[in-house]
Amino acid sequence: MTSQEIRRQFIDFFVQKHAHRFVPSSPVVPQDDPTLLFTNAGMNQFKPIFLGLEKRDYHRAANTQKCIRAGGKHNDLDDVGRSRRHHTFFEMLGNWSFGDYFKRGAIEMAWELLTGVWKLDPSRLHVTCYEGDEKAGIPRDDEAANLWREVAGLDDDHIHFFGFKDNFWVMGDTGPCGPCTEIHVDRTPDKTGGKDVNGDNPAVMEIWNLVFIQYNRHADGHLEPLPAKHVDTGMGFERICQVLQGKGDNYAIDLWQPFFGHLSKLSGAKYTGRFPASDTGSADAGGDDQLRIDIALRAIADHARMATFSIADGAVPSNKKRGAVLRSVIRRAVRFGYQVLGIKTPFLHSLVPVVAGAMGDAFPEVRQKAGHVAEVIRIEEESFLSVIDRGLKVFEEAADAARERPGKVFAGADLFN
Ligand code: SER
Repeated sequence: MTSQEIRRQFIDFFVQKHAHRFVPSSPVVPQDDPTLLFTNAGMNQFKPIFLGLEKRDYHRAANTQKCIRAGGKHNDLDDVGRSRRHHTFFEMLGNWSFGDYFKRGAIEMAWELLTGVWKLDPSRLHVTCYEGDEKAGIPRDDEAANLWREVAGLDDDHIHFFGFKDNFWVMGDTGPCGPCTEIHVDRTPDKTGGKDVNGDNPAVMEIWNLVFIQYNRHADGHLEPLPAKHVDTGMGFERICQVLQGKGDNYAIDLWQPFFGHLSKLSGAKYTGRFPASDTGSADAGGDDQLRIDIALRAIADHARMATFSIADGAVPSNKKRGAVLRSVIRRAVRFGYQVLGIKTPFLHSLVPVVAGAMGDAFPEVRQKAGHVAEVIRIEEESFLSVIDRGLKVFEEAADAARERPGKVFAGADLFN
């Protein structure tokens, strides 16, 4: 199944079979939400409905949402390139209920799609539920756990309880939130991945988060119950493609191949699909040159998508907030190109037509705005390349000095400089 087909099947399942309204993705640059730098989840555009501030003429919705997680509450930037399953830009497949179905409906439909339509092996699926917080007066989510037993027939060793960090979803410091139940897939040879749920084993991966939105979180942290109960789900598109295409990482799916092909032609570097042992943390490539190349190629491909989609939706590189995040992502890509692939001239902009080719059917705006986007990236690349040599030298000197210091402290003044 191609990634295009997977996207289509998800949407058809909810729209045609379960009477959801298709609501197109909102832009990655939020229209009127000062609490957000970039759209970080499919539910963002529905926030006023969850809060009871707005009503629509539909109570169920589904789509694939363009998301950016770089900067702000959900930030994966430092892991991108090294990780098998993180991106700065990704698509989130989602279905929503606005005061309509709740836990039972969400769990039934998720299970039907995964095991009925997509035929995933139920014995390879694990779920997590919220363990509750007595102090905050939020009970353990036994209701969700019981539904997993009843609807999906899951045994207790496939149902795991976790705390706030993993099983209570908050959009940001404020806003709609609630306990969630996540679905994880276990691809270990002997199906022993249950112990690695939410751990660091790449064979065990979260694919879908079902959030039961019930509260509005205020700036002081207190949770105010909402007038109605809602469902907000999010499935990482690249992750479900990875699973359904039988791959071990997000970058092995069909969608990325044109990116690596283009970069290979440009630099002569070959993509071999290798990864560090661990997906997150400070894992680096040590002295392994091919691993460094693979990391660089992935980071550049990912960052080309992030830059293209954010500029197409109106972001501009700058020194402030959203513009600064965009600038840092473009510079990270250029740095990988310069230091690892040896590309000393602007190149990132030449990936814009590749993004448009791979994703323009689902998101026509990247095709329509390709010329403008490429120009903005090219100008940004030129200005960065004009200072990169000197900048890297200054950085290396400061890093050397830091290595000599007790505790290897990088001086604040050097950091600022
Ligand atoms: N908002 C939830 C998430 O981002 C579910 O879509 O995981």
